This record gives sequence, C-alpha cells and structure tokens, in this order.
Amino acid sequence: MAAIILDGKQLAQSVLTDLLPRVRTLRARGIAPKLTVMRIGDDPASRSYIRAKIRACEQTGVMGDELVLPASTSQAEILARLDRLNADPLVHGVLVQLPLPRAVDPHAVAARIAPTKDVDGLHACNLGQLVQGNALLQPCTPAGVLRLLDAYRIDVSGKHAVVVGRSEIVGKPMALLLIRRDATVSVCNSKTPDLGVFTRSADVLVVAAGRAGLVRADMVKVGAVVVDVGVNRLTSGKLVGDVDAAAAHTASHLTPVPGGVGPMTVAMLIENTVNAAERAAPGGLQSTA
Ligand code: GUN
Repeated sequence: MAAIILDGKQLAQSVLTDLLPRVRTLRARGIAPKLTVMRIGDDPASRSYIRAKIRACEQTGVMGDELVLPASTSQAEILARLDRLNADPLVHGVLVQLPLPRAVDPHAVAARIAPTKDVDGLHACNLGQLVQGNALLQPCTPAGVLRLLDAYRIDVSGKHAVVVGRSEIVGKPMALLLIRRDATVSVCNSKTPDLGVFTRSADVLVVAAGRAGLVRADMVKVGAVVVDVGVNRLTSGKLVGDVDAAAAHTASHLTPVPGGVGPMTVAMLIENTVNAAERAAPGGLQSTA
C-alpha cells in the first residue's frame, strides 16, 4: 500500500489563512507586523528560501523586508545591524538566514537577536524555554513537523521516534518537542555506526541530515511515519529529500519533497512573527493559540 502523503503545502496555506484575522486585528490597532530577514552573502539556496518567506509575508499582510549584506561583512557590523533592528519598534521578527560566512560565529549572532524578536527560536533563552516546554517562539522546522503530525492526527506518545541529524536548528529542538509529546527519542548523527539499526526500529522517523537518499526504503520499518526534512538539489536540478522516494511503499505516512516540511517551516515563521507582534502590542494582544 502506498503511504499517505503528508501535504505540508496545503496545511501551510491553512496556517497562513488562519493568521489573516490576527493580522487584521493588529493592523486595526495601528500595528503592522513586520519581519526582517538578514542575508549575508549570495548563497542561491538562501535567496530562494527568503523569496518564499517574503511571499508568505505578503500573503498574510505581514511586512517582509530583506536586508542584504556582502559576504565580507564583519561580525561586528552584523551585530551592530542586529542592535538597530532590536531597537526598532516597527520590527517584530528578526531572522538571520543560515548558512553564515565562515568567519561569523552563529552563536554570537543568535545571542544578539532580542529573544522577543527571535522568530527562528535559536536564542539560548528560547531554546531554554523549549527545554522547559513553554517557548512562544519555537524553531520553525520542528514546530512545523509537529503541526503536520497533529493535522493528520498522528500521536507520537509511547512511540519510538528516531531523529537523524543533531543540528541546533532542526535535530536537537525536534528531539525536545518529541520528548515533550512523550515519545521515546533516539538521535542519530553521521558517526552512528549502523544507521539502519535505528531507522528500522523507528515508528516515527525524522530525517534531517542533508544527504540525498541517505535513508533507503529497506531502512524504513513497515508502517512507519516518515518525515523528510532534507532538501537536496541533484545535478539534474531536481529537488529530493534525504529519504529514497521508494519508502512510499514501506511507510504508512510520508512527507513529500518539495511540498512537505518546507512550506510548514515558512508558515511557522510567519506565525512566530505574528506571535511576536501580538506580544509587543501595548497592553498585550497575545493569542492563546
Ligand atoms: N536556512 C535554511 N533554513 C533556515 C531557517 O529555518 N532559518 C534560518 N535562519 N536559516 C535557514
């Protein structure tokens, strides 16, 4: 039986549509929610991701602004720019697109963004709150994965969830969110000796390694829920995930690439921006959503 496809594209549209009345309420109070994305350098993938983010802003009435700096920009200059964005009351969300040039320390950058504007959820304050289970601003990709599982009524409680990849932006926060939902979580990395031993025991498999075809169909347990976070461009130009497409014959549920996790990441970013704008509103306007 072919797997049920977890349609992130459709769900992301519905998340964005649900934000429309919240943005209208903010605007009626004279607050135009605004996201500023900083891009340092000219990475083509970053340009395309940012285009998608700005498009989603436009669709929801959120102001989306891209601030482009040359790859040679010093860390001190980047931090100074962040200070200005932090101090600007018209900016509610600040995101520095990754990857950064080699000379720039991503932790220093994450630490400089005001935690209340950190719509990537990567500031130590927000990651700390994630550990405690009460973060308003959660990293967008893991939050989007959970929203997708929820939409398809996939309960991870008591399941063995295996996360392949331990990045700070996906793997680690993904593991925390799954633990919070009472899954038993294993986190694998590139040094895991026999990856298949882990992936074959996963009821829920989240793959975020950035290597096309890393997980073959025979590495997936029959009936598993497979979430493919990878986005890899082949030399042919085709976009593929980290999981072989043939896993659709083994898994019970599978996210497509493209059209699975990617659009959910963008939708969560816009939701975080609206959350941040509501929290910044005089007298508060915080949704209980
Ligand atoms: N590069 C690829 N995905 C992301 C993301 O979600 N946030 C940031 N800041 N950079 C990225």
